[in-house]
Amino acid sequence: MSLLIHGVAPDFTSDSTQGPLSFHAWQGHHWVIFFSHPKDFTPVCTTELATVARLHGAFAERNAKALALSVDSVEDHHRWIVDIEATQGIAPNFPILADPERRVAQLYGMLPAGAPDSFTVRSVYFIDPAHRIRASLTYPAATGRNFDEILRVLDGLQLTDRHAVATPANWRPGGEVVIVPSIQDPDELARRFPQGFRAERPWLRWTRLPSDQT
Ligand code: BEZ
Repeated sequence: MSLLIHGVAPDFTSDSTQGPLSFHAWQGHHWVIFFSHPKDFTPVCTTELATVARLHGAFAERNAKALALSVDSVEDHHRWIVDIEATQGIAPNFPILADPERRVAQLYGMLPAGAPDSFTVRSVYFIDPAHRIRASLTYPAATGRNFDEILRVLDGLQLTDRHAVATPANWRPGGEVVIVPSIQDPDELARRFPQGFRAERPWLRWTRLPSDQT
């Protein structure tokens, strides 16, 4: 099953390293970065989970929580966490779902083609506080994800929600943004962008948000 941007992220219950978890209730009014990884006791996954643990403060600043999933058992997860802490110097500080029957993995399309009994791939879902899927990424097992990029995407989504702007190619926080084409009324433009903007075309208008609004 493939989940669509702007669709509701399906609710589910699952066992996790922090006990039974009911997804929408656990999410509350936060953003969630929900990501799967293939297997416990594997090297790339070990580095990814430690990286996400180190970003706990960065996620909290963005009102976001991390949630991981793999198809191993809770018991395996707990044994692996000991190794993650011993080798990476930090233990996961977020729940890891145990999905040995691949119920949640099927629901979220996290399994590779033609292999329903295999390991999950590296899926990432960005889910907003209204439980809507706002972005997704998919990487194969052997390619570790760039979690700075995941934070950058989250920043872009939140900026779009706060201001009527979109983020151009290779945007970085603080960089120029583009005004969404749907805003054409001069009064609305003046109200939303008192700092002004530069119009290369009526549909290509650049502005820089004041630093306290980014
Ligand atoms: C890893 O996490 O290191 C990994 C998992 C499955 C296949 C290849 C690498």
